[in-house]
Amino acid sequence: MARTRTVHRCTECGSGSPQWVGRCPGCSGWNTLVEEIEDVRPPSAMPHRRSSSGARERPVPILEVDASEWAARPTGIGELDRVLGGGFVPGSVTLVGGEPGIGKSTLLLQALGSMAATGSRGLLVSAEESKQQVRLRAERLGVLDPRILLLSETSLPDIVRAVDEVAPDSLVVDSIQTVFDPDLGSAPGSVAQVRECAHQLVQLAKSRAMATVLVGHVTKEGALAGPRVLEHVVDTVLSFEGDRHHALRLLRAAKHRFGSTEELGLFEMGEQGLQGVPDPSGLFLGDRTSGVPGSVVLPAMEGHRPLLVEVQALIAPTTLAMPRRSAQGLDQGRLSMLLAVLDRRAGMSFTGADVYVSAVGGVRIIEPGADLAVVLALASSLTGISLAPGLVACGEVGLGGELRQVGQTSRRLSEAARLGFTEAIVPASAPEGPVGLRLHRVGSLAEAIRTAGLPIA
Ligand code: TYD
Ligand code: MG
Repeated sequence: MARTRTVHRCTECGSGSPQWVGRCPGCSGWNTLVEEIEDVRPPSAMPHRRSSSGARERPVPILEVDASEWAARPTGIGELDRVLGGGFVPGSVTLVGGEPGIGKSTLLLQALGSMAATGSRGLLVSAEESKQQVRLRAERLGVLDPRILLLSETSLPDIVRAVDEVAPDSLVVDSIQTVFDPDLGSAPGSVAQVRECAHQLVQLAKSRAMATVLVGHVTKEGALAGPRVLEHVVDTVLSFEGDRHHALRLLRAAKHRFGSTEELGLFEMGEQGLQGVPDPSGLFLGDRTSGVPGSVVLPAMEGHRPLLVEVQALIAPTTLAMPRRSAQGLDQGRLSMLLAVLDRRAGMSFTGADVYVSAVGGVRIIEPGADLAVVLALASSLTGISLAPGLVACGEVGLGGELRQVGQTSRRLSEAARLGFTEAIVPASAPEGPVGLRLHRVGSLAEAIRTAGLPIA
């Protein structure tokens, strides 16, 4: 009987088709099918297969379930623990995704180092870098510790054997896309390989109560290269983001079985590796020069954390038939909408001009609460008049030009007051402001522009 067969498998959703088709029958994605050789033997016929644990499972009363061993263990990296809701849970599997060079390996080496300092043994399986490279990096980061074990290996059975041998408390596999199981017919890096290896590592993590972290590469479009199904087999999916040209790195949980996905971790990449940024509010305002038209400070929320961010706009004459509409760190579609609302509800036209807006410092602000700041930045740049230096603005702009309140306005305003801002333009329904911050309550976009001291047609 044939041991293998050829299938065309979707790199997004993992569904298969015997023939190649342009559009995936599972998720309707275009051009996502790749040819793969798959093993068709039943699992029992495959060598080295772990059978499900020998003892038969019985139902138990919920009160008899001991959950204490599933308590999170802190990594000692404050910003990482914040996102994880305390730390890594023994037996859990976390997938860390991010673009190449963003700092995934650095973060995990620092985490292993910090955990090793508290007596926990960590095994780092690195296929991307040599052991020598890892050692040099550990030295530079000041996390050299005998409890960190290194293994340069890509074959899954060998990795499993090493885990059995050294019984580490935590395992880091960098990266899951390089690991392969020679017993499977398909090529290393293929969807079937990545999925099956991840699946086996999940079983291993659970059976040994070992916290496991898989590093996953991300494609340019921001999706994990390889199957989406990877996201379903793990407990936690973290994404490590940032602009390569800025030092700032953001860590978010896209999925988290043990806690909230609302938290945001902030790091700065420096000479000493990643440093946490526990008080980020003022971070983005460091290089701000007030008195420049087109600049507005936005009290934004990232998860549960207030963050003051400078929003900038630049309007420049253009000779292009299709003028540019560029939004950096802000929502492109939202910008088009706001330009239309400005045109129709405030008589401010941007035809014949290129429009650039950006959230300064490498952050991505996609909440509607940024609308008012974007609109005021656009109006300020168009009129060439700068806003008062102590002013902040936040609120959602509706299609009718009306202003709506956004969540957690009080916390945003308190943070602005704490950083020395003195005035805020807010929607009419906004709650009381903190001491020291004068609120200008406005009902419409036109009123907001006038309140900011800008002339309006
Ligand atoms: P790395 O952790 O290798 O990224 P990834 O694993 O996500 O591909 O980080 C690589 C980048 O980080 C590299 O461009 C150099 C930079 N870096 C620093 O700036 N400072 C440091 O202390 C370290 C270790 C790396
Ligand atoms: Mg790496």
